[in-house]
Amino acid sequence: MHRLVVRLIMVAFSVVTVIANGEENLKFPKDFKWGVATCEYQNSGSTKCPDSNWAHWEQQEGAIKTGEISGESTCHYDNEQRTIQQIKALGCNTYRFSVEWSLIEPIQGEYNEEVIDHYSDFVDELLANGIEPMITLHHFSHPQWFEELGAFEKTENNKFLVLFAKKMFNRLSDRVKLWVTINEPGVYAAQGYYWADFPPGKKLINRQVFKPTATVVKNLMMAHASMYGTMKRELNGRECQIGLVHQFLKFMSANILTQPFTTHLTYVYHKGIFEFLKSGEFKFGYRFGLGKEEMKIKKAKEMMDFIGINYYTMPLVKAEMKMNFENTTCDEEAGEYMTDMPFRAYPQGLGEVIRECHEELGLPIYITENGAPDREDKFRGRWIRDHLKQVSDAIADGCDVRGFYYWTLNDNWEWDRGYSQKFGLYEYDFETHRPTLREGSREYVRIIRESK
Ligand code: BGC
Repeated sequence: MHRLVVRLIMVAFSVVTVIANGEENLKFPKDFKWGVATCEYQNSGSTKCPDSNWAHWEQQEGAIKTGEISGESTCHYDNEQRTIQQIKALGCNTYRFSVEWSLIEPIQGEYNEEVIDHYSDFVDELLANGIEPMITLHHFSHPQWFEELGAFEKTENNKFLVLFAKKMFNRLSDRVKLWVTINEPGVYAAQGYYWADFPPGKKLINRQVFKPTATVVKNLMMAHASMYGTMKRELNGRECQIGLVHQFLKFMSANILTQPFTTHLTYVYHKGIFEFLKSGEFKFGYRFGLGKEEMKIKKAKEMMDFIGINYYTMPLVKAEMKMNFENTTCDEEAGEYMTDMPFRAYPQGLGEVIRECHEELGLPIYITENGAPDREDKFRGRWIRDHLKQVSDAIADGCDVRGFYYWTLNDNWEWDRGYSQKFGLYEYDFETHRPTLREGSREYVRIIRESK
C-alpha cells in the first residue's frame, strides 16, 4: 500500500514536471530513461566470439545473404571507453547491451572469470559516467555446445541458461537494476525453425514441419519463467526489475489474398506469445490447428516486472513471402515510406502496441529497440521524431513507458544480412574503426536535450 502511494506521488510529480519539446510538443517525464541498445555478438563478431552458435553458422555456404563473415565487427568488447563516450555524446543515460554467454562459458560448466570481471568493470564504468546498464542475458547468440545439445528444442536444456543467468545475476545485480532474460523469443524461433535463416536452420525435426517452432517458443517461455523465478529468489533485498523483450511484429494485408498468410505469420511471431503472456495459457497451434503445444504456467504479471517492446514495423504484405520483406509495400499516399531492409515505416503501430501492452498486461514498459536501416541517412531524423511522438502521446494517455532505447549505436552485423543494413546512429568505418555521428541522429540528441 505504502509503495503504491509513493508510486502515485512519483507519477503525479513527473507529469507536472514534463517539459514541452520543440514544435512537435513532445513531453517526457523528467526521470525518463534515454538509451541505445546493442548486442555483443553483433558488435564483437566471430573473431571475439568463436564459440558462439553464430560463429559456426556464418561459416556455412549460403548462410549469410551477402556472403560475409562478421569478423571483428565494431570491436565493442575491447572499446568500452569509446562506447561510453559515444553514449554520453548522445546525451543518453542508459545502455542496453548483452553479456555474451559463449564468451563467459565457452566450454560447458567452465566459466571464464576474466570475461565476467570485464563485464563487471564495464558496469562500474557505465555507472561512473551516469549511464544505467540494462543487461540482456540471451540475444540470439549462445555457446555452440548448447546448440549441439539441441538448445531450446529440449526443455531439459533450459537449466543451462538458468544457471548462466544465476551466475551473472549474482555477480552484477548489486549494481545492475534492469535485466532482460531473453530477446525476442518469437523471432528466434521463427527465423531459426520456421524460415531456417538463423541457426540452427532446421525446418524439420522428426519430419515435422512447424511443430519445432511451437516447441522452441514454448521452451523459451519456460526458460524465461525459470530465469525470472531463480533471479528473484537471489535478490536478497536488492531491487531489480526483470523483464522479457518481445518484438511486436504484426503483419497486415495489402489485399484479401494475403489475409490468411498474414494472420498466420502474426500468430507465429507475436500473437501466440502475447496471448500466453496475457493469460498464462500457452496454446501454440501448428499443422493447421490440428496439433498444439500446450501448457499453463504464469501470467505476465507473475513472471516479469516490465515488458520490453521491440518495435520496427507492421509489414503490409502484398504477396506471400519469405521473411525478407521483398513482397511487402507501404501506402505512399498516406505518407508512408520504406526503409532499406526494406520494411515499412509505420510509427502509429508503436503507439498501438504500447496501448495494447498497457491495457492487456498492465506492466511498466520500456521500448527496448526501435530504429531503421538508412544507409543514405534520408529519413533517420523523421523516423526518430515520429516514433518518439507516439511514445510521448501514449505517456500523455497514461501509459507507463519508462524508457526508450534506439537500435543501434553503430552500424553493425545484421545477422543473416551481414553488414548490408545501416542501423547506426553512428556511421561506422570498418577499415579505420572510426564512428561518425550521422546528421539524422542529431534529432535524437536534440529531443533528449530538450526533454531534460
Ligand atoms: C534484433 C536485433 C536486430 C534488429 C534489427 C531485432 O530483431 O533484436 O538483433 O539487429 O532487430 O533487425
